[in-house]
Amino acid sequence: MSPDEFLQHCDTLESQALAAFAAAEAVCDQKQLEAARIEFLGARSGRIKQLQKALGEVPAAAKPAAGKRFNQLKQKLEETFDKAAQTIAQRSRQQVEAQRQRAFDPTVPGTALRLGRLHPITQTIEELKDIMGRLGFAVAEGPEVEDEWHNFEALNIPPEHPARDPLENFYLAAAANCAPWQSASSGKQAQSAANSPPRLLRSQTSTVQIRVMEQMRPPVRVISCGRVYRPDTPDDTHFPMFHQIEGLMVDRDVTMGHLKSTLRLLARMAFAPDVEIRFRPSFFPFTEPSVEVDMSWQGGWIEMGGAGMVDPNVLRAVGYDPEQYSGFAFGLGIERICARRHGVTDIRQFFRNDVRFLHQF
Ligand code: DAH
Repeated sequence: MSPDEFLQHCDTLESQALAAFAAAEAVCDQKQLEAARIEFLGARSGRIKQLQKALGEVPAAAKPAAGKRFNQLKQKLEETFDKAAQTIAQRSRQQVEAQRQRAFDPTVPGTALRLGRLHPITQTIEELKDIMGRLGFAVAEGPEVEDEWHNFEALNIPPEHPARDPLENFYLAAAANCAPWQSASSGKQAQSAANSPPRLLRSQTSTVQIRVMEQMRPPVRVISCGRVYRPDTPDDTHFPMFHQIEGLMVDRDVTMGHLKSTLRLLARMAFAPDVEIRFRPSFFPFTEPSVEVDMSWQGGWIEMGGAGMVDPNVLRAVGYDPEQYSGFAFGLGIERICARRHGVTDIRQFFRNDVRFLHQF
């Protein structure tokens, strides 16, 4: 083959290959580009391979120039191919992204969130607060970790009373008696923890009566709702943690008539307008006289809790003069109220945290 002929072939191949690569790039067609690569740059029978064979037939004198032209051509085709491949890859990525964005339809309604709701006990507490608020009772709070003064002594519960038996209460271990943010690790703090007065999880919300009266003078009209703790074996009416609503009214000339009217109003607003309240004689150290409170319900009577007139010893413990002031107090179980209203027969259900149960309220 003459050198001129060879160079002629080179030029033709160059313009055809560049045109083929450009055409594939223009339509962004990966397959078309690959076909062009095989046709021109294919390792076995690509046209550049044929041209390489033709180079062997060029006379020796013209070979260096022809070889140079061949190498230059081959390199140019490879570079052009690489560039086209990159461009196509990049453009197809952009197209996929654009497609994805087109596929997003902002007018499609969203997936509804599953809303939570207040726990049935919390709902009951809110309602009781609301009812008692309408009767003029403010809401008071007290700590769940208590000392013996507020849980027993000021409530006229003497040391030998069975309610103070350590086995009937959740006493805190001495080292745990320091506040959680303090560390008992240093010797000095551990020492002071050991010397600090015993503390326990409160066994009744009556503690809040004391805390309120220590803080203010009569007239007092408060309720307090919250958790109390007793080491009871769980069954369908017992749980080691449960809730009480405590009521306290202290003023001049408060009588048991006020107590009964208040409880009747509470029961009627919480249950039904025709329920009745019944008192049965009872005993609590912090009330005198003391009663058990029952409510008429579906032809029978159900127990609601305890109540009575605040014992003069309790009034004295907080510095009130029993000759001037009298008061009533009551303490009712909230689980019992909530269970009755909803027909729940096992109070353990309230604390299993099974959403299938809780979702119903
Ligand atoms: N604290 C009592 C209990 O947990 C309930 C109680 C009875 C509260 C009489 C009172 C009351 O305020 O006057 O069993």
